[in-house]
Amino acid sequence: MELQNNITRENVRYLMTLFYTRAIADEVLGPFFINELGNDIKNQDWQEHIELLADFWLAELKGEKTYKGNIYGAHIKVPHISRESFKKWIELFSASADEVYIPSVSNRFKQKGISLSKEFISHLNI
Ligand code: HEM
Repeated sequence: MELQNNITRENVRYLMTLFYTRAIADEVLGPFFINELGNDIKNQDWQEHIELLADFWLAELKGEKTYKGNIYGAHIKVPHISRESFKKWIELFSASADEVYIPSVSNRFKQKGISLSKEFISHLNI
């Protein structure tokens, strides 16, 4: 896909699919997600997760009122999550965002991802 300069539900879904496909295959991140959602990104749990994450990113970056989840609650119940896991998350997420969006847009995803990772780390006390 050509680098995108607008954020749409369609291209956010594309970014999520790219990132989570890599996360599932990753030694560090894979087990967290596979444990919760399975290893087949096409299954229903994954498709619902991708849609929820599209809601989340459209709310964060475009001010849409679509996301009604509980982001801290969701991560508190992930066992063994560590600083190293967040480092890997940022690495894979940033590389994926750079492949989908022009730099000024991918930077917005990356900044938000990094600042939330820091908040999680301090919130979870890890
Ligand atoms: C090591 C890093 C991370 C791991 C292992 C991880 C893992 C997970 C897991 C297992 C879920 C729950 C899936 C479910 O029960 O349905 C989840 C939900 C979610 N994650 Fe993460 N996550 C990480 C980092 C992040 C970051 C940095 C963000 C934000 C940019 C994020 C955003 C979300 C959102 C929005 C949800 C949905 C929460 C809800 O239920 O409303 N995650 N994550």
